[in-house]
Parts: sequence; C-alpha cells; structure tokens
Amino acid sequence: VKEAMMTKRILITGANKGIGLATVAAILAHDDTHVLLGSRDEARGQAARETIVAEHPDYADRLEVVAIDVSRDDSVAAARRTIGEAPLHGIVNNAGVGIGSQAMQDVLNVNTRGPRRVFQTFLPLIADGGRVVNVSSASGPNFVANCSAERQQQLTHPGVTWAQIEALIAECLALDAGDFEAAGFGDGNAYGFSKACLNALTIELAREHPALLVNACTPGFIETDLTRPYAESSGKAPADMGMKSPAEGTKASLHLLLGEPGGSGWYFGSDAERSPLDRYRSPGDPPYQGD
Ligand SMILES: NC(=O)c1ccc[n+]([C@@H]2O[C@H](COP(=O)([O-])OP(=O)(O)OC[C@H]3O[C@@H](n4cnc5c(N)ncnc54)[C@H](OP(=O)(O)O)[C@@H]3O)[C@@H](O)[C@H]2O)c1
Repeated sequence: VKEAMMTKRILITGANKGIGLATVAAILAHDDTHVLLGSRDEARGQAARETIVAEHPDYADRLEVVAIDVSRDDSVAAARRTIGEAPLHGIVNNAGVGIGSQAMQDVLNVNTRGPRRVFQTFLPLIADGGRVVNVSSASGPNFVANCSAERQQQLTHPGVTWAQIEALIAECLALDAGDFEAAGFGDGNAYGFSKACLNALTIELAREHPALLVNACTPGFIETDLTRPYAESSGKAPADMGMKSPAEGTKASLHLLLGEPGGSGWYFGSDAERSPLDRYRSPGDPPYQGD
C-alpha cells in the first residue's frame, strides 16, 4: 500500500509517437512512475504501448492508454472520466501540430487551448507540489523576438492573464496575412504565435497555482513526423540539419516533471536550463537569470 501511495501517476498527451512516446519510455525508466499514455486515436495509442512493452515487459503494469484529443472539450472530459479519481503527480502537455499549412485557429486549438483545456480538466487531481510541463518550442521566443516592443511586453509580462492572451489571439485571427508586421506581430507565424501564447499561459497558470510547479520547455530540434518534411524539402538528411533523436528531446521535460526546476512559470531550453521568453538561447549557453 505504501508503495502504491508513492507511485507518481503522470498523464502525457500526444504520446503515441515522436517526442511524446520517447518521453513515456524515459518516465517509465523511473520505477516509481505510472504513465497514462494519451493518444487521440486509441488504436495508435495501444500500438505505441505494445512497442514499449515489447522492449520492456516489466513496464507493462505501469503503462496504460487513455484516448484524449486535446482539441475537443468532450474528448478531454471523457478522458477525465476514464482516468478516475487517483491523484496525478503531473501532466505533460506534449500534443502539438502546425509546421505546415494549417489554419492559425486550428494550430492554436491544439497547441495553446489544448494545454489549457487539459490543465483545467485535470487540475483537481494534481497533488500539491505536482508538475505541469508544457512542451513548447524555441519558435515561441523567436516569434516574440520579431514582435514590436508593445507586443513583446504583452506576451511576456508576469501579470499576463488568459483574457489578455485571448484578446491577442482574437486580434491575430482577424488579421490578413500581410498585416501582421504592421500590427507588431512579426511574420505572424501561426506555430510560433501558438507557442508564445503557451509560454504566456504558463506564466499565468504558475502565478494562479502557487502550490504547483508549472513550466514550459523546448525539446530541441528533433527528428519526428513534425520536422521530417523540413529535411525532405531541403534535400538533406535530418542529422545533417542538426536534428536529434526523440530520446534526446526528453531531457528538459523529464527535469521539469521529476527533477527540481528551481522555479515555476519559466521556460527552459532543451538542455533543461532556464531560457528567456523573448529571444533564443542556445543549449550550453549560460542559463537565463531573469531580466
Ligand atoms: N520535433 C521538434 O523538433 C520539436 C521542436 C520544438 C517543439 N516540438 C514540440 O514537441 C511536441 C511533440 O512533437 P513531435 O515532434 O513529437 O511531433 P509528432 O511526432 O508529430 O507528434 C505529435 C503528437 O501530437 C499528437 N496530436 C496532434 N494533434 C492532437 C490532438 N488534437 N490531440 C491529441 N494529440 C494530438 C499526434 O497524434 P497523431 O499521431 O494522432 O497525429 C502525435 O502523437 C509538440 O508540441 C511540438 O510542437 C517539437
């Protein structure tokens, strides 16, 4: 009974492939964990579970699949009913889309509203000291770096609220493609904007929930179905473009989930060191200390 009480139950979304699946394996390497592998398609989730269990039969009892589409209220609510009432140690909001031609609305619905939806739904289960890891991207700080000073302040200030983020989203959704620059939003890249908004959301959630450690991170530049088209279009091998393996993309998430992040409401680089919200910091460079 004591052992069961100490087990850390962790929900991770978009975990049927890519960085999410690698993160599941990395979490299960810690034997005090139990993973709820989130997949929007139950069959793809079960297939992913099989690949892990085939390699590590001893993980089988600590790994279950939960159907969850983070873009839909009804799916997230159904996942909440499936999971039951046992407390969660943490959530990894990993599901993400959007390097491509998807509409900004759809990208935001997964990358920004998705983590908020999941957070709000599962908050009652997260114990004090629990962790929320928002898998963001360097595209967020890069987006902010190209914004006007006013937009930079709006996207990064410590008092930022969801209502303010919603207002920025509404403004962007109303703009025509050529009008982002003049409105102070740089090139208006939907993916970068969604991750900048996710980093802002992280600030708010951390401030409003001081008993939790809520942080964001980038996994780094990782070879997955999300990024492979880049390499294909450039005619280079993924490794020659600097892409690393999904396993190498789990370092920051694992640190924020199971280690001691040292703060809440922060954004971390792929080397698991704190990074600024408004400019790129290379892995290995000195950690960001706050402005
Ligand atoms: N790869 C990189 O270099 C890189 C860099 C920076 C940040 N990231 C971030 O890392 C995270 C994982 O990306 P990845 O590279 O591993 O990409 P990936 O291989 O394409 O995996 C994305 C995962 O998200 C899932 N997903 C998409 N829409 C969903 C929805 N509505 N509900 C639930 N799950 C959904 C996908 O499920 P399906 O299989 O059903 O489509 C898949 O499991 C993303 O947040 C991404 O933005 C990646």
